[in-house]
Amino acid sequence: MDTVKVNNRLFEKYISAEEIDDIVKSMAMEIANEMGEDEVPVFVGVMNGAFMFAADFIRHYPYPCEISFVKMSSYDGAESIGKVQELIGLSDDLKDRTVVILEDIIDTGNTLQKIYDIFESKNNKELRIATLLFKIDVYTKELPIDYIGKVIEDKFVLGYGLDYDELGRNYPNIYQLKGKIMNNIVLFGPPGAGKGTQADVIKEKYGLVHISTGDVFRYNIKNETELGILAKSYMDDGNLVPDDVTISMLKKEVEKNSDANGFIFDGFPRTTSQAEALDIFLSEKGQSINAMVSLEVAEDILEKRLLERGAVSGRADDQDVEKIRNRFNEYNTKTSILKEYYQGKDKYYGIDGVGTINDISGKIIDVIDKL
Ligand code: IMP
Ligand code: MG
Repeated sequence: MDTVKVNNRLFEKYISAEEIDDIVKSMAMEIANEMGEDEVPVFVGVMNGAFMFAADFIRHYPYPCEISFVKMSSYDGAESIGKVQELIGLSDDLKDRTVVILEDIIDTGNTLQKIYDIFESKNNKELRIATLLFKIDVYTKELPIDYIGKVIEDKFVLGYGLDYDELGRNYPNIYQLKGKIMNNIVLFGPPGAGKGTQADVIKEKYGLVHISTGDVFRYNIKNETELGILAKSYMDDGNLVPDDVTISMLKKEVEKNSDANGFIFDGFPRTTSQAEALDIFLSEKGQSINAMVSLEVAEDILEKRLLERGAVSGRADDQDVEKIRNRFNEYNTKTSILKEYYQGKDKYYGIDGVGTINDISGKIIDVIDKL
């Protein structure tokens, strides 16, 4: 297979199984030559990623050796300490032994440093590090890496034990992500749910570009762009702007921001056919919508919020209870369809939109971090 698709992201073949085998074999020979026949090292594979590498490595190791595995596990500690990391499976009898940590990949080196520090406190005779892959450009630590299989550029890879969201470990080749990992979010919520406020927080945190369809329309019409003039001709006749015109405007916005880490789509899609058109457009770029985040707030609370907002801003559609209820109605009929659309793709995340701005941002961040 020259390309694989995992979680809607496209990966291209990067290091073939044959090349991996050559690399692993020469690492085993290099280390064996240094250790000699009399030294019995303990190789410690770091789970889960290194399981394949470790297995193949010791198959090629010609002298007596031991193999064992550890796993970094993080769990939620008490509130004051946050995430706690511990090393599971660490054996106590490494004292006076020569230990070689086997890593599948070293990126920033944060994980490795933690593991190394724990091992170092065990009074080994010697402690060395071997990694199959090394993203040298992003490595931030001083710790020297004793054995390196292959230096790779800073792009996400999977296969041969390495995962993307736990998938892809089974491939015998290593694949590299085509393009970069993007977070494309559809932000949904009834009028007054706080979409604008949350979009500002989220775009800042992740380097996303907020595309509010309303703003895009206004911009194109005001600046009399070709698409703006076209859209206006429909609106002036009292017709809805066709999806392909809207999509073309969005495409322009996406293309204008090619260095973004992703997009927050706000006010679009509003129909299933628009959602499908958006999917097609993104897939042409090797991208996809990763989540629909829907801010959920009860209507009586929204009504109160909007009336308060209307009193301050003077926005006519925020002052009239009838108009507000109409907008809720319209929202309810349209969202339920889109909610189903994204639920069907396992991409729907409903968030309780009542609480402080921080609370709600926190919940959205939890969703995005797990994507
Ligand atoms: P570090 O702490 O930044 O060095 O990250 C190390 C861990 O991140 C590795 O053990 C992997 O689990 C994961 N990782 C980093 N880069 C990649 C990649 O390109 N593909 C898959 N996992 C990766
Ligand atoms: Mg790992």
